Amino acid sequence: MEPTSLDELIRTRRTIKPPMMSDAPVSDEDLQAVLENANWAPTHGMTQPWRFRVYRGDARTKLADDLAQLYLTAIPPEEQKEGKADKLRKMPTLAPVVILVWMERQKIEKIRELEEIEAVACAVQNMHLTATARDLGAFWSTPPFLYKPEMNAYLGIGEKDRCLGIFYLGHPAEGDAWPKGRRQSIEDRVEYIDA
Ligand SMILES: Cc1cc2nc3c(=O)[nH]c(=O)nc-3n(C[C@H](O)[C@H](O)[C@H](O)COP(=O)(O)O)c2cc1C
Repeated sequence: MEPTSLDELIRTRRTIKPPMMSDAPVSDEDLQAVLENANWAPTHGMTQPWRFRVYRGDARTKLADDLAQLYLTAIPPEEQKEGKADKLRKMPTLAPVVILVWMERQKIEKIRELEEIEAVACAVQNMHLTATARDLGAFWSTPPFLYKPEMNAYLGIGEKDRCLGIFYLGHPAEGDAWPKGRRQSIEDRVEYIDA
């Protein structure tokens, strides 16, 4: 591969949210590539802690209702934002594929939890880049209730496992321009120690 192709892929990857996606289905081939590439993320101790649950079709409507309900039950009323539950009730229906992502804690807890979370983040970046390479939009969403015990109970996962995101995947709406990225200079974030 040309290094510049990878540079371009990394720099053109953008968050594209469900309201900016079309109804066009994501092919099985594209979805498989996204998941397969997640599986090739680096992993300390080969724990491969990433776990995924893929929702498509009508399953998204039930998921949307459940997420709205989780928000209303897991977030104290005084912290709830107006319209957020309604938004959650809609979002999963606007993307053809919705993937819940979590970290499964190693039983012997040898590898630090932080590193297991980092490994899953690498997996999600692989998914995002694979989506971009296939002209798909993606959005890594982390509403705060994901980190609450109610979410673990909903997923049926252990209390030491950690839900880390809702990953939305779909084709960008036709006619919409691919979003422009924005970053500060890397030079403001690096120190070079040469001698
Ligand atoms: C761990 C993580 C969690 C994120 N959660 C949210 C979120 O809950 N809501 C949101 O609007 N964007 C979320 N984002 C996406 C960022 O908003 C997005 O990456 C940022 O605006 C930069 O845009 P880009 O991805 O197009 O470069 C998340 C990104 C990361 C890495």
